[in-house]
Amino acid sequence: MKAVIPAAGFGTRFLPATKAQPKEMLPVYDKPTIQYVVEEAVASGIDDILIITGRNKRAIEDHFDRTLELESALKNSGKDRYLKQIVDISDLANIYFIRQKEQRGLGDAILCAKNFVGGEAFAVLLGDTITIGSPPCTKQLMDIYDDRKGTVIAVEKVAPEKIPHYGIIKGRKTDSTYEIDDLVEKPSPEEAPSDLGIIGRYVLTPQIFDHLECVSPGFGNEIQLTDALKLLRDEQAIFAYEFKGKRYDIGTKLDWLKSSLEIALGNDEIKDELTEYLKNLL
Ligand code: UTP
Repeated sequence: MKAVIPAAGFGTRFLPATKAQPKEMLPVYDKPTIQYVVEEAVASGIDDILIITGRNKRAIEDHFDRTLELESALKNSGKDRYLKQIVDISDLANIYFIRQKEQRGLGDAILCAKNFVGGEAFAVLLGDTITIGSPPCTKQLMDIYDDRKGTVIAVEKVAPEKIPHYGIIKGRKTDSTYEIDDLVEKPSPEEAPSDLGIIGRYVLTPQIFDHLECVSPGFGNEIQLTDALKLLRDEQAIFAYEFKGKRYDIGTKLDWLKSSLEIALGNDEIKDELTEYLKNLL
């Protein structure tokens, strides 16, 4: 299976940090966000990855490229550990890039992947969302896809006050998944058909492109993936899965802080000192 990582958005919720750098390059502990996302795809067994970029996003391409001058400087100064780290990044997977010319929404970004994907099901991982899970969230969805042979969307229970920030599903529980009856983009808590929010990991069947091509702009005047999924739902069953693990939306300042702290607390190099610091902070 191939993977598509949309990373062309403006990142307005994280301004001014994202004025001149992609939000997908914001570091979480010691790596840019999008590296965690690519590593999740690779750990799920995916080798071919298309990243959707746009203007102001060149740093993403540079990050996954070789840096020959830096490599030779590290080699000459005997910094082998860092050398290995940066060479490994450029060897992670076959990474391709395409530019979304105008930021017309997530659905439009995914449509840019049509030729790359061909006629097969494919995984989508939002470039500003980190998940932690074993197996990785994308692998969990791929396993469900193998079983159900239909589109699968990762969801998570969200607090009522957070509902207006999510696409929310209405579904019927069947074993470990929900069969989806409806999807609503960013409803009010009163209008929401459930508390199951879409978190930014999908396995989509290629028929989604037919609907992305003709769907009109929806919420926020953007081409919404949720609206195309609603149309797809009329012709084939689609499923939601409450994935096992944690998820951080790096597009929000609080989740970015939480993810950096939690990942750092799992790192032996600084765990003890950071714990001590946090204990004394409040
Ligand atoms: P978001 O809606 O969270 O990203 O899209 P955004 O538009 O950058 O966020 P704000 O609201 O302005 O802060 C989720 C993912 O889809 C990508 C984003 O880069 C992000 O990784 N995206 C969004 C695109 O690739 N193209 C778009 O037109 C919109």
